[in-house]
Amino acid sequence: MEKGEYILALDEGTTSCRAILFDRQGRAAASAQREFASVFPQAGWVEQDADEIWRTQLAVMREAASSVSAAQISAIGITNQRETLVVWDAETGEPLHQAIVWQCRRTSAMCESLKAEGWEAEVRARTGLVLDPYFTGTKLKWLLDEVPGLREKAEAGRVLVGTIDTWLIWKLTEGAVHATDVSNASRTMLFNIHTLAWDEEILARLGIPAVMLPEVKPSSGIFGYTRLLDGDGEGTATEMTPPAGIPIAGVAGDQQAALFGQGCFESGMAKNTYGTGCFLLTNTGESPIASEKGLLTTIAWQMDGKTTYALEGSVFTAGSVIQWLRDGLGLIAHASESEALAASVADTLGVYVVPAFTGLGTPYWNADARGMITGLTRGATSAHLVRAALESIAYQTADVLGTMAAESGLRLKELRVDGGAVANSLLMQFQADLLGVSVIRPVMLETTALGAAFLAGLGVGFWSGTDELRALWELDRTFVPERDEAWRAGVYGGWQKAVGYQL
Ligand code: G3P
Repeated sequence: MEKGEYILALDEGTTSCRAILFDRQGRAAASAQREFASVFPQAGWVEQDADEIWRTQLAVMREAASSVSAAQISAIGITNQRETLVVWDAETGEPLHQAIVWQCRRTSAMCESLKAEGWEAEVRARTGLVLDPYFTGTKLKWLLDEVPGLREKAEAGRVLVGTIDTWLIWKLTEGAVHATDVSNASRTMLFNIHTLAWDEEILARLGIPAVMLPEVKPSSGIFGYTRLLDGDGEGTATEMTPPAGIPIAGVAGDQQAALFGQGCFESGMAKNTYGTGCFLLTNTGESPIASEKGLLTTIAWQMDGKTTYALEGSVFTAGSVIQWLRDGLGLIAHASESEALAASVADTLGVYVVPAFTGLGTPYWNADARGMITGLTRGATSAHLVRAALESIAYQTADVLGTMAAESGLRLKELRVDGGAVANSLLMQFQADLLGVSVIRPVMLETTALGAAFLAGLGVGFWSGTDELRALWELDRTFVPERDEAWRAGVYGGWQKAVGYQL
């Protein structure tokens, strides 16, 4: 076993960067978090500054690790917002465009024409995904088509591409490692989830030079070692905080990491993460289950030579609807105020918010749908609106769970939940009532970061195996359904009618 008392997890999400230092019990010994900006250059477009992401991630990493020495950190785990695209100059490391965020709909028309050519079934069969602007592949084609000279430069091997994990690994190793893990690769729409290799036919159709793609590795195991210079980029590799030489030993997309962090190691176990979006994943073991109803077949992780698959339902707007109440409408000053305001009214008075700000994911897959508020009457107040916005998160989850049940025949008895919004007990109780399923909230809500730490810890022998990890999972509270079927049918029927206006 490696020396050291901690694993450092870097969790690069859609709106903020986090770093958490985990001890052997899976408890957070130190953490830091900082938000960064997204820009919306056109309706439905979302971009971020890759350099700002890196600087923010580095700052929180240093802050979280400030009280320990490098020798106390056995390994680093990385987890990240998935699908978001970064391209950079292979020599200078300079980003060649703003990062195009997973939420960005700019390739909506491109996806439609690929569908018209008959690529939808091919994409599904090879990648397990739906042909939608959500995924990285069409975003990369868009860049290669639109940025003058980029394709030629890429063909000459002078451009590198990656999702955020790849970008962070490259920065942390100072350009020594250009790699991703299978879980992130499986979200690009360029990776064949059966052969576990970049799909040559899809690359050819999209005109993507293979030379710009990262090497794909298992999710647990050593990717490389940090080789960081000090803050201003000068000085030697051994002079910075935390110093160089820490192995990066676990990498996974944030939703897959959360599945791992929730201890969903066996087939049939599921979790729902309430972050910017909401992502419900069910572990399906070593077999990829094909979906007909809009679920995604994706790689959960690969370790010890075994590939584990998952079925996923993706909801694009969840926690970000609360952010919109705060920043877009100014109805609350802090996200945490939403619970009290929503609880000040008994129901929404028939108001429904459909937060399709960036289209709708599972099961609708409608890139052009947009947000709306329905059922307004003169008595509706900001409290009703806030409550309806919160409930929209639960309704979208119900859409996903219903699809999962219809598709797999699997009727879940309980759902493990995590992510920032699950601190909201009103939302969790409403979720349990709506699903008619017990909602299980663990003590550790940062399961995404924990999952990355677990993968990294296993990668260096810090933990012995999944049995040891399973024992670290602790229950905080179970939300038991309290409403009957008639109530459920009534409120859910109202949601279906509201969402139907956008389809
Ligand atoms: O697929 C997008 C997902 O990875 C984003 O996760 O936690 O930033 O909502 P999150």
